[in-house]
Amino acid sequence: MYSIETKNLVKKFKDKIAVNGVDLMINKGELFALLGTNGAGKTTTIKMLSGLILPTDGEIIIEGMDMKKDTLKIKEILNVSPQETAVAPNLTVKENLEFMAGVYQIENKETKINELIKQFRLNEVLDKKAKTLSGGWQRKLSIALSLINDPHILFLDEPTLGLDVIARKELWKVIEGLKGKITVILTTHYMEEAESLSDRVGIMSDGKLIDVDTAENFIKKTGAKNFEDAFVAVATGGEL
Ligand SMILES: Nc1ncnc2c1ncn2[C@@H]1O[C@H](COP(=O)(O)OP(=O)(O)O)[C@@H](O)[C@H]1O
Ligand SMILES: [Mg+2]
Repeated sequence: MYSIETKNLVKKFKDKIAVNGVDLMINKGELFALLGTNGAGKTTTIKMLSGLILPTDGEIIIEGMDMKKDTLKIKEILNVSPQETAVAPNLTVKENLEFMAGVYQIENKETKINELIKQFRLNEVLDKKAKTLSGGWQRKLSIALSLINDPHILFLDEPTLGLDVIARKELWKVIEGLKGKITVILTTHYMEEAESLSDRVGIMSDGKLIDVDTAENFIKKTGAKNFEDAFVAVATGGEL
């Protein structure tokens, strides 16, 4: 059984076809990177896969369940750290965790919160208001919050956007720590991020999923000298 499977997934916004017939199969525990230039359809795909917006057409199967019929059950086993970091700016780090634990009605609230504090080394910032944190810490908190319900599947939409190189590498460690434990779908503009973190990469362009493979195979297939060049070759269909 796949973690995520889509068949002919389509999303139209009026005349704009944002996602155009995507067939995707993601394995359990896989770290899957979804790449594509701006406007390729990555965020729209993630929003549909996480049940935030409805597809115009096609099927989404999550752990064997149909998104149309089992929406609530599916939402219990996934979570999202969205492109716009979802922390409450005026709450402290601790309060953010408590708030989210409340939203999800987590049973062993304190245990779970303490586990996340330890996992993400949040101790030093626990009493700081989220808005006073650096971008890197805010994003780390956002990812910690998205793990509060022990999701089987986590969507990370551009988790390292705008972070400096040190904060980015720090976040890579966090993401690497999730590898193999849960299914992670990551979108990014940083090719070295996709290459170093992911098991497989899907390349989108203009709403279509052009190809799915390992970064290594993309380099081999295109004969490019590195993954960035391989990405450009695939995303532009060799039209550069
Ligand atoms: N709510 C919306 N209404 C109209 N068009 C949208 C909406 N959301 C996204 N789009 C369009 O759909 C396309 C794909 O967007 P998006 O999924 O955000 O791309 P990406 O995340 O790959 O940059 C873009 O052309 C974008 O302008
Ligand atoms: Mg996006």
